[in-house]
Amino acid sequence: KNKLALSGKKVIVTAGGTIERIDPVRYITNDSSGKMGFAIAKVAQEMGAEVQLIAANTSAEPPSGISLERVQSAEDMYQAVLKQWETSDLVVMAAAVADYRPREVAQTKIKKKDSVLTLELVKNVDILETLGRSKKHQFLIGFAAETGNLETYAIDKLERKNCDLLAANDVTVEGAGFGVDTNAVQIYDRSGMVEQIPVQSKEEVARKLLTLAAERMGGVLH
Ligand code: PMT
Repeated sequence: KNKLALSGKKVIVTAGGTIERIDPVRYITNDSSGKMGFAIAKVAQEMGAEVQLIAANTSAEPPSGISLERVQSAEDMYQAVLKQWETSDLVVMAAAVADYRPREVAQTKIKKKDSVLTLELVKNVDILETLGRSKKHQFLIGFAAETGNLETYAIDKLERKNCDLLAANDVTVEGAGFGVDTNAVQIYDRSGMVEQIPVQSKEEVARKLLTLAAERMGGVLH
């Protein structure tokens, strides 16, 4: 009675942008601040879940009172998620994970030489896709950051990565996506778009997304 929607559930949330090293003083990353993932972790805890936050590079302050593991690269994040995967009930991949990393990490600072320097990149593991393939009881939520063709790419990612829900972010929309305190997403499941969330705080977006997930996981709403 009066059980919170995510009581008794273990939730993993990833946040921030991974760091892919080039040499000891340089790396590749992206514009993720961590705000979206941090908001999800905070709201999941408010909804009664036991939350494990796994964060890469972030400019925002992580929420206090939530277990946090810091990682750098996509590979590090993958290993951190795997450790928690079997015992988790819900995984939310809000992190902006690099698709590629430098083929080699130079052990010393790369020196300036020719007018053109070519950096060779190799594909990273797709964490969400790997989880999607080994999913048992877990409920899986992916994000998609897009700059066009939102619906097509969202449905493609949802299916390819075997997600239960996917929050599609058109990051060209004012007040949505990277860095800002607000977001706007379209939520998809296998049948298509299930909810359109206009620009509002990342916490409100998190609450709507997690409420939808909790309903579908068979959680009790109060
Ligand atoms: O951190 P903020 O500044 O608040 O910004 C929020 C956000 C824009 C980063 C967030 O809302 C968001 O959209 N996160 C996903 C960004 C992303 O990497 O999207 P993607 O379309 O490249 O990846 C699709 C999904 O696969 C994501 O859930 C991603 O975490 C996952 N992925 C991607 C690549 C990879 N190698 N492994 C993955 O697991």
